[in-house]
Amino acid sequence: MEIIILENSIKLIPMTSELYHKERMNYIADPMMCDIPYVYDRENAQKDFDKKIHDKNRRWFAIVQNTNVIGNVYYKNINFEKKTAVLSIALTQDIHKGKGYGTVVEKKMLEYGVNQLGLQIVYADTVLRNTRSQHVLEKVGFKYINEDSDFIYYEYTKN
Ligand SMILES: CC(C)(COP(=O)(O)OP(=O)(O)OC[C@H]1O[C@@H](n2cnc3c(N)ncnc32)[C@H](O)[C@@H]1OP(=O)(O)O)[C@@H](O)C(=O)NCCC(=O)NCCS
Repeated sequence: MEIIILENSIKLIPMTSELYHKERMNYIADPMMCDIPYVYDRENAQKDFDKKIHDKNRRWFAIVQNTNVIGNVYYKNINFEKKTAVLSIALTQDIHKGKGYGTVVEKKMLEYGVNQLGLQIVYADTVLRNTRSQHVLEKVGFKYINEDSDFIYYEYTKN
């Protein structure tokens, strides 16, 4: 995996232990997604990193602006036969949100998923109250599939 350069001094850098700890230390849970505050714990973060980094069906990037880790974005559950995957993103703090970064990162990840991973369908989901995420997913080309009592489900189909 290579570093992907975007606008606004943003880069997607393949996740490393060091970047993940920085991301976790900066992370403040967003009430649109989760009611429970996040508390950084070095050991738990390392366990989480070790589990995820060895997952062959994941492609995971730190979202870095200049030298600051402002989020993470990844494909999980990549199925290379079916050419499908699930996209997920989180910026660490409110100061980074609403500035267009999520939109450019999601667009770039779709381009990467289609061109580099050969994906034909990308899935995403958001909790019902996360209207900002829903808006951004729809803006970059995801279509509503359905919803249940907790989540709304989306899919993006390669043109
Ligand atoms: C969801 C997230 C990735 C979006 O990234 P972002 O950089 O904040 O989004 P952008 O600035 O690119 O775009 C925000 C858009 O949502 C709109 N918006 C802002 N608040 C909104 C709300 N409460 N309801 C609906 N739309 C909203 C903005 O007007 C903007 O749309 P526009 O460009 O058409 O004007 C980011 O906010 C985030 O990390 N949130 C917490 C984690 C999360 O929700 N992850 C997604 C779960 S899968």
